[in-house]
Amino acid sequence: MPAITYELIKQCPTTGARAGIIHTPHGSFETPIFMPVGTQATVKTLSPEELKQMGAGIILSNTYHLFLRPGSPLIKEAGGLHKFMNWDRAILTDSGGFQVFSLGDLRKITEEGVAFRSHIDGSKKFLSPEIATKTQMDLGSDIIMAFDECIPYPADHDYAKKSTERTLRWTKRCKDTLTRTDQGLFGIVQGGMYEDLRKYCADALIDMDLPGYAIGGLSVGEPKELMYEVLDYTANYLPKNKARYLMGVGTPDCLVEGVKRGIDMFDCVFPTRVGRNGTAMTWNGRLVIKNAQYEHDFNPIDENCDCYACRNYSRAYIRHLVRVNEIFGLRLLTLHNLHFLIDYMKKMRQAIIEDRFVEFYNEFSRKYTAK
Ligand code: GUN
Ligand code: ZN
Repeated sequence: MPAITYELIKQCPTTGARAGIIHTPHGSFETPIFMPVGTQATVKTLSPEELKQMGAGIILSNTYHLFLRPGSPLIKEAGGLHKFMNWDRAILTDSGGFQVFSLGDLRKITEEGVAFRSHIDGSKKFLSPEIATKTQMDLGSDIIMAFDECIPYPADHDYAKKSTERTLRWTKRCKDTLTRTDQGLFGIVQGGMYEDLRKYCADALIDMDLPGYAIGGLSVGEPKELMYEVLDYTANYLPKNKARYLMGVGTPDCLVEGVKRGIDMFDCVFPTRVGRNGTAMTWNGRLVIKNAQYEHDFNPIDENCDCYACRNYSRAYIRHLVRVNEIFGLRLLTLHNLHFLIDYMKKMRQAIIEDRFVEFYNEFSRKYTAK
């Protein structure tokens, strides 16, 4: 039995949307799901208990950051990432590919891997498919991601083809390196904005028979319509009996569009980052709590939300905390935003199960304004 399996519960009869369950060695979670991001072995400002209370079944962490600090040997010594950070539900770790490529001029790609300078102290570092995989084996995350290149946008066909072929060779090296049987390796479909390359990449990854497939290289500066178009055909090339993960995407409008096209898993720093920036997410769009209009507003952020922040505190109070830079204000907004997104995905799942996904989609599109 593979470490990670996907169980299809219900397929929407008119769109690609599907409800499922993903089983891992650290429990099962229902999909579609939003995964809170805990880059440095913590979801910024929150405790694991708070994450559990809001129903998080899986969180994401980053190989790149943990590789630099504290280093995977220390986490291995602690008994693995789950024990180190006191999180006993599922963990997915990204491979470091994306973060290294975001470094721009600080890196050099070869067939062997990527040489880069640490964003912390400028020291020379090297990541390869083998090192990224062994690091993730030390971490002991349930789902580990292949080491890939996230192709920048725009990229010409020739570059995208060469990069995609290299990502495929790298993925094979990750697969050959992984010896733990309690971890599942997900391949990442690249290919830029080119349908022939996306299909080629998906087919080659499917031949490797991995327990799940991610779609990478999206939300990299391309127009949203183009992203949806690439998502349309790429999701179609993926097998129905495996998990599908859209990397780095997590605004409410992109989530519902992704689910409509058959995506099961999403992650994004968006809810936690904008929360720490003083923005609350609601069904009607974003609420910038710092604005003067909330100075005397003693209503909760969202009166229909049953998160800890909305049950106990007013917009005026949270606005005050944010304005005077109090940590508790950032915590309350982070709590609310993650609760909102997890709840949003739960409602979407329920709609799929009750054959109401199209109604859900239409109602959301009517109410939500992406500002
Ligand atoms: N996060 C967002 N996009 C990507 C991608 O293309 N590759 C990886 N490894 N992580 C991502
Ligand atoms: Zn709330």
